[in-house]
Amino acid sequence: MQSCLVDILEEAPVEARDLYQQYSLDEEINRIAYHYEVEPEFFRIVTGGEWNNYSCSMWEEGFTLTQAQEKKLDEFARMMGLKKGMRILDVGCGWGGPLVYLCKKYGVEGHGITISPMAIPIAEERAKKHNVNATFEVVHWKNLRAQEQFDCVYSDEVVVHFNDLGGFFKKAHQLLKPGGMMVNKELHFRHSKHKHAMDKLSQHINKVYAYTGNYRTLSDELKLVDSNDFQLEEVLDIPISDYKKTISNCWLKQLNDNRSKLERMTNKKHVQDFKLYLKGICRIFSADVFGLHIVASRKA
Ligand SMILES: C[S@@+](CC[C@H](N)C(=O)[O-])C[C@H]1O[C@@H](n2cnc3c(N)ncnc32)[C@H](O)[C@@H]1O
Repeated sequence: MQSCLVDILEEAPVEARDLYQQYSLDEEINRIAYHYEVEPEFFRIVTGGEWNNYSCSMWEEGFTLTQAQEKKLDEFARMMGLKKGMRILDVGCGWGGPLVYLCKKYGVEGHGITISPMAIPIAEERAKKHNVNATFEVVHWKNLRAQEQFDCVYSDEVVVHFNDLGGFFKKAHQLLKPGGMMVNKELHFRHSKHKHAMDKLSQHINKVYAYTGNYRTLSDELKLVDSNDFQLEEVLDIPISDYKKTISNCWLKQLNDNRSKLERMTNKKHVQDFKLYLKGICRIFSADVFGLHIVASRKA
């Protein structure tokens, strides 16, 4: 399997480009569209489970994918200290599954934002089906009105796409009520040297992300927590084996089981590139380059 992956990458060489490209807001929206603006059914099938998380789930022996998705979301709820009636913001809400689950289970009121318009009708339909108080909006976080209106702001594997993470923490601080919680989950390089060690595989992955893969170290993120006047409350380390399991046992399996259907929705090359990207991430995980953390901090 290894040589097959490398052969395909050799056939489709990608340019060497650095992480952390500077781009305008319009350019960022276009780049994000490249990865996310495909038939929502494509992502529904690949991500699977009841809540279609396009992010790592947390596993325990015997769990189904839905249970693993819910366990991760329950961790978010615990770290945010969710209580009935709170108002929460999901930045990068995907197809609405995570926010709808949290609103339903914890009785909170939610707002989800994304810059991928095709996801909105799916998210709204889901909120209606589960009869929860959740609204969705296509807006870049930079364009949200800065008002202290939320008890919690959270984000699950989204900030990798932001080339201005400091600006995001600053905005989250403005959006939160005094004492409000900011909870962010993301992959982090285990060492800053990995930032500049882009091999062909990581270039392919970044290409699939339209060069919006701004991976950082955990210490980069923690410095921004502090400099934007958040008090660090907790860092939860999620074993990278949970991510391998999410991708190999679920996303790759669901992609393989539905390959022709998915090819009809997009095209053969798209599905092949997507498969390579998923396999590539697993390969990089095996090289111990990334850690996965949820960082919880309180508006000081
Ligand atoms: C990897 S998906 C994660 C989705 C969801 N958080 C989950 O766990 O299932 C990344 C999401 O971030 C959104 N996104 C990317 N850049 C964004 C931005 N600048 N503002 C708001 N959403 C953004 C994408 O549209 C997509 O929905």
